[in-house]
Amino acid sequence: MSANWPPGPLVKHLTVAGGAMLYNAALARNCQPEWFEPQFWRTHGRLLGTARGRGTTHFIQADDRELVLRHYHRGGVVARVLADRYFWRDEQRTRPFAEWLLTHRLHRAGLPVPAPIAARYVREGKVYRGDIITERLVGTVPLSAALLDTALPLLTWIAIGRCIRRFHDLGVCHADLNAHNVLLDGTAVYLVDFDRCRLRADGLWRDGNLVRLRRSLEKVTYGLAAERFTDSDWHALLDGYQSQMPADGSRAP
Ligand SMILES: Nc1ncnc2c1ncn2[C@@H]1O[C@H](COP(=O)(O)OP(=O)(O)O)[C@@H](O)[C@H]1O
Ligand SMILES: [Mg+2]
Repeated sequence: MSANWPPGPLVKHLTVAGGAMLYNAALARNCQPEWFEPQFWRTHGRLLGTARGRGTTHFIQADDRELVLRHYHRGGVVARVLADRYFWRDEQRTRPFAEWLLTHRLHRAGLPVPAPIAARYVREGKVYRGDIITERLVGTVPLSAALLDTALPLLTWIAIGRCIRRFHDLGVCHADLNAHNVLLDGTAVYLVDFDRCRLRADGLWRDGNLVRLRRSLEKVTYGLAAERFTDSDWHALLDGYQSQMPADGSRAP
């Protein structure tokens, strides 16, 4: 995938108070800035639930589909000082716009990612805050949650390896490939959370992604029955990663 790529006529750009938003007019014709405010959905009784990551993720019932609204929040020690503020450079390099545009591209390329709906940033001098909305992958369970309940069939581990390989073959280096960002629906596998992800030429980053996922799997299954994550599971994932792609498995955009 090349780095410069026109997003297409369905992607709309709107100026909003203090910033701007992007949205996909085919998926959210009536998208408005209020959509980024959890309170807007709460007052309309459309808030379905929340998940806690670095910030809070809100699950929403829109008119025709379920949505996921995420406010960007820093992690680690800087979170105490900067919380949800990021230094302004330019619009394309804001976290929400960069993640939205990359996810849009991957979605259009046929990769198993949520359809991106909208993104917004609001500037305040040298800093900005941001939010992103994606379509909820209804019926999926995070790999981390699935492992709390039961061990997974080897076929699922193979499918996870194959899925990661498809992204890597397009040069997608996932900045946070962990067991919470892999979603499962039977043997269908999706990746989410493309914040800070980049398209890169081939390199050792591929191994880095896999090592990060392995550490995360060890962490989420720590203290659980040993059968939840075994060497055979990991080897099945690597086999899937190394196996020949199906004909439609590495579609170019
Ligand atoms: N489109 C989606 N459909 C279903 N679940 C999602 C979707 N996007 C995120 N999630 C869930 O919400 C969690 C947090 O979202 P994520 O994008 O990973 O944000 P962060 O890790 O920065 O908090 C994910 O681990 C996943 O379980
Ligand atoms: Mg995440």
